Amino acid sequence: MALIGVFDSGVGGLSILDEALRQLPEHDYIYLADSINAPYGEKSSEWIAARSMELCQYLAAKGCDAIIVACNTATAQAIAHIRTVLIHIPIIGVEPGIKPAAMQSTNGVVGVLATEATLQSDKFNALLATLPSEYQFIKQAGAGLVPLIEAGQANSDTVLELLAKHLEPIQDAGADTLVLGCTHYPFLRKAIRKLLGDTINLIDTSDAVVRQLKRKLEAQGKMLGDGRHGSISFLSSKDSETLSKMAQELIQSDLSLHRIESELVSHFR
Ligand code: DGL
Repeated sequence: MALIGVFDSGVGGLSILDEALRQLPEHDYIYLADSINAPYGEKSSEWIAARSMELCQYLAAKGCDAIIVACNTATAQAIAHIRTVLIHIPIIGVEPGIKPAAMQSTNGVVGVLATEATLQSDKFNALLATLPSEYQFIKQAGAGLVPLIEAGQANSDTVLELLAKHLEPIQDAGADTLVLGCTHYPFLRKAIRKLLGDTINLIDTSDAVVRQLKRKLEAQGKMLGDGRHGSISFLSSKDSETLSKMAQELIQSDLSLHRIESELVSHFR
């Protein structure tokens, strides 16, 4: 059994935690939401790198056996440096699934909805450059969406209106596949389906991320559980009660099977 740290700027990484609970329910989890600083997507690379490093060091000091950087933005801006510092802990990142999207697209037109910081990053652009030029990627920053999701408004009319604007260029280009390039966006599936219909293929990488976690834990010999469900600690830099409540709403897995704690980590402020 292992202790897994999962962090994001806010509630977005809950989409990854949900998949982890589905595939690996026996482990203990610490979910750390830096909600006081959300959104990360419009902050500078230097700020995101320094803050992500600080949060990972905190999770390492808590004794985590592996850490998931459950944020595309932090992965793009910070993971390379984090891996050079925390060399003994597997650090698993999240990247927009543009490769699987290209493979699954039939018309070669793929929309990518992500934060500005992810789309501007060298890491994302290097990944994009590895794909054949016949694919057309329509990149769109989802400005304003994360604060609304953080406020529990993922299915509101305000989100629908804003999303409609962001998705327009992707729709106009005739994309048959849309990459959800921010861990907050899987919580917009319903709204996206309302706007784009059922036929567009939505790509999120949580399954691949958790399979990678499993491989890392197997390599460390940490996969042996006793069949019981592990614990989950919800830590927030802003409001742990709200985080816990939102987790109950957003996570599909049965949280009542786990021992749940929540805590405000004010020393980060
Ligand atoms: N959930 C994050 C991501 O995957 C960051 C969103 C934000 O804070 O802007 O990019």
